[in-house]
Amino acid sequence: MIHSKSGYEKIYFQPFCESIIVHQKTSCIFTASNCNMRIFLIGYMGSGKSSTGKRLARALNLPFYDTDKEIENEQNKTIEEIFSDFGENYFRSIEHEYLLQLQLRNIDGVFATGGGMPCFNDNIQLMNQLGVSIFLDRPAKELVQRVETSKKSRPLISNKSDVELLNFIEYQLENRNYFYKKATIIAERDCQDIKSLVHLITEKSYKNETEILDYNHSSFSSFLEGIEGVGNPLDQLLKTYQKVRDHFLYDPYHLDLRPEGLKASSVLLKKRAWCVEKANVMAACGRRLGFPTRLSYAIVTNHIGIEKLESYLRRPEIVFHGYVEIFINGKWVSCTPAFDKKVCRLSGVEPLEFDGKQNSLFQAFKGKERFMEYIHYYGHFADVPIQLMNSEMKKYYPHLFDEVYDTKEFSFYHL
Ligand code: S3P
Repeated sequence: MIHSKSGYEKIYFQPFCESIIVHQKTSCIFTASNCNMRIFLIGYMGSGKSSTGKRLARALNLPFYDTDKEIENEQNKTIEEIFSDFGENYFRSIEHEYLLQLQLRNIDGVFATGGGMPCFNDNIQLMNQLGVSIFLDRPAKELVQRVETSKKSRPLISNKSDVELLNFIEYQLENRNYFYKKATIIAERDCQDIKSLVHLITEKSYKNETEILDYNHSSFSSFLEGIEGVGNPLDQLLKTYQKVRDHFLYDPYHLDLRPEGLKASSVLLKKRAWCVEKANVMAACGRRLGFPTRLSYAIVTNHIGIEKLESYLRRPEIVFHGYVEIFINGKWVSCTPAFDKKVCRLSGVEPLEFDGKQNSLFQAFKGKERFMEYIHYYGHFADVPIQLMNSEMKKYYPHLFDEVYDTKEFSFYHL
């Protein structure tokens, strides 16, 4: 029914490998297919979900799915046949199942949904949990004109005369608008072009406060004291980067993969933190300062200060090394506030600087010697993927989940 994600390869990259940089140079604001993003276009029949969806998918570099077509393929029947053979309730149950499958099979993309899908079985809530829903709002009169020629394939309106059609659509919209208006984004008639939609998606997905990136928490005002409100927003952001990098001493020996431990405001209470925690603080501060931010994760080797850590992890790879991407002047730029000046000095590498223009990713070399290496890229996320982080760590470090680690030297907490 749904094409698996396997057709869309993950990016694997080595230090200085072009892939990550190449994607950042394109006008597309999302990189490759590792967007971990689902966009649901919702709205009445004829509102333009499929045509807009295809163009939006292209702009976002995501696969496109038309839920009606997917259901027709899977059932091997047209929508009219499904309605006439099994009734509308059956169709609604398959629509719901389709959404559940997206979650189970971790499928991303832009989805043009059937006009009734958000209005049954709490589907709108489910869509908002799974990703971003966008309501393409159009007046009833315009919808009548747009569906007139394609009525036949739409069982709910196929037998209606023109006058009946307007009454029917007006009547249905009165009920359906209640659900449609629960969408994450309500796109009025004049902002349904692709540029506006991409802008709305960026603002909504990457600037909002989340349980983990809780930047309205009172502790952020003291953390950003002397930075926030002083100079232009970019200056503030760059100063924040330095503060996040050096305020917390890098500490990969106390890992907490639970929501309460990962919360940016909880990290602010500490003096030491690991790369994921520091990335959370940076992403939260960036959003607070008005910049869209997202979290990126990779598996790396030769991470800074690795020797002792390897003995706890029992293998050389660091799973879920975290950094941040910030949308600055129309492009995503990466920064890695993980390693403070002191740990860099002890490890004999220069601390990473960030100028808001160039990606600042990692210390690939120590002198002439290869230092850090990226082995696998998980993709970028609008919020911390706590489940994935736990399951990946479990795959690589099962002993950390089988035994209890809670000493001054090393502690590990998980879901
Ligand atoms: C329906 C809309 C149709 C299709 C089915 C029911 C509805 O999809 O799912 O005919 O209830 O509004 P489109 O909105 O793509 O026409």
